[in-house]
Amino acid sequence: MTTARSTVLVTGGAGYIGSHLCVELLQAGFQVIVVDNLCNARYKSLDAVERITQKPLTFVEADIRDESALTRIFRTNDIDAVIHFAGLKAVGESTEQPALYYDNNINGTLKLIEAMQQSACRTLVFSSSATVYRSPPELPLTEDSPTGPSNPYGRSKLMIEEILRDLSAADPDWRISALRYFNPVGAHPSGEIGEDPAGPPNNLMPFISQVAVGRRTKLHIFGNDYDTHDGTGVRDYIHVVDLARGHLKALDYLAEHCGMTVHNLGTGNGYSVLDAVRAFEAASGVTIPYEVVERRPGDTAASYADVGRARDELGWCAEYDLEAMCADAWRWQSRHPEGFGVGGEDE
Ligand code: NAD
Ligand code: UFG
Repeated sequence: MTTARSTVLVTGGAGYIGSHLCVELLQAGFQVIVVDNLCNARYKSLDAVERITQKPLTFVEADIRDESALTRIFRTNDIDAVIHFAGLKAVGESTEQPALYYDNNINGTLKLIEAMQQSACRTLVFSSSATVYRSPPELPLTEDSPTGPSNPYGRSKLMIEEILRDLSAADPDWRISALRYFNPVGAHPSGEIGEDPAGPPNNLMPFISQVAVGRRTKLHIFGNDYDTHDGTGVRDYIHVVDLARGHLKALDYLAEHCGMTVHNLGTGNGYSVLDAVRAFEAASGVTIPYEVVERRPGDTAASYADVGRARDELGWCAEYDLEAMCADAWRWQSRHPEGFGVGGEDE
């Protein structure tokens, strides 16, 4: 059972979403242990978390596939809940290296489950993704919309959800929450932590930020002939701090409910690429040069969530709007043009 004094293990906690979650957990009074192999993050993010919160956390540098490291963490700590972010997330790379993605994401989760089974901890929040839904989607996407991911990354997320569902069916003591994130963007309002992709960003918002700060020359807009209000792709962008807070609500929910649940975490609003460019220009005062190019293979015209279940069951709603997402992303990017040093240089 988790309460505000509980100890939470955060896998992948040095990463983008994980570091924002650590801030929220520490501020709510939880004890936090992070396990991360730093394959896509720097320890500096956790230093910043401690600076923001003025509270310490415990960091273990290890791969979640390392059974002995995980067993040691569970043996030496009384862990009440696990929030599981550790995973690889680049859609294109997953198509090129599927075995790497299945090993890291699925095998990593199995090792985590094994270590949890050897301990008394049966509470798990899992980072799933809107990418598990079938494309083209029926909008808005509810948790009951048909699934059917179109790439190995998405399939790894859906397979993990299925493994977790089987686990909770076999043992009713498990309390599992799968959170399907829509498009997490923005940064902590302090400007001390934010998204720091390695190499040229695959995703829209970090690409726009890096153009604004002068690390990239222009944005390529992938198609303006979609059936959307201005022809560019529409997505449900959600502020990373709102997203992080959704995890605390999921922990509260699991304290009262056994079994497995699935919730969409989004705002329910769809914004186009051009809406995002304009909002970022307004927040930063910088003009974003762009060129419209071919559609990106695999992209869907529009995707946004029905957030009714999260509102009704978790008592959670996103609070920040697109303006705040852009303002906070810009504060982070302009104060830390090179991020934490994970990312690559100019094209
Ligand atoms: P991120 O890459 O910033 O964070 C993931 C962290 O996990 C990194 O710090 C990385 O070093 C660590 N990691 C990866 N494999 C590991 C392993 N085997 N052992 C230990 N640590 C490992 O990504 P993020 O954006 O913070 O995403 C967190 C989670 O949310 C991921 O599981 C991702 O698939 C999921 N998700 C992200 C998005 C998004 O757009 N950012 C959308 C939907 C779902
Ligand atoms: N886009 C551009 N130019 C870019 C990058 C993106 O025009 O340089 C467009 C895309 O075509 C799309 C929109 O911006 O219309 C958003 O693209 P993102 O890559 O930012 O986001 P996606 O919705 O394609 O995918 C993201 C993550 C997935 C995750 C999904 C749902 O990459 O891993 O959100 O959470 F599954």
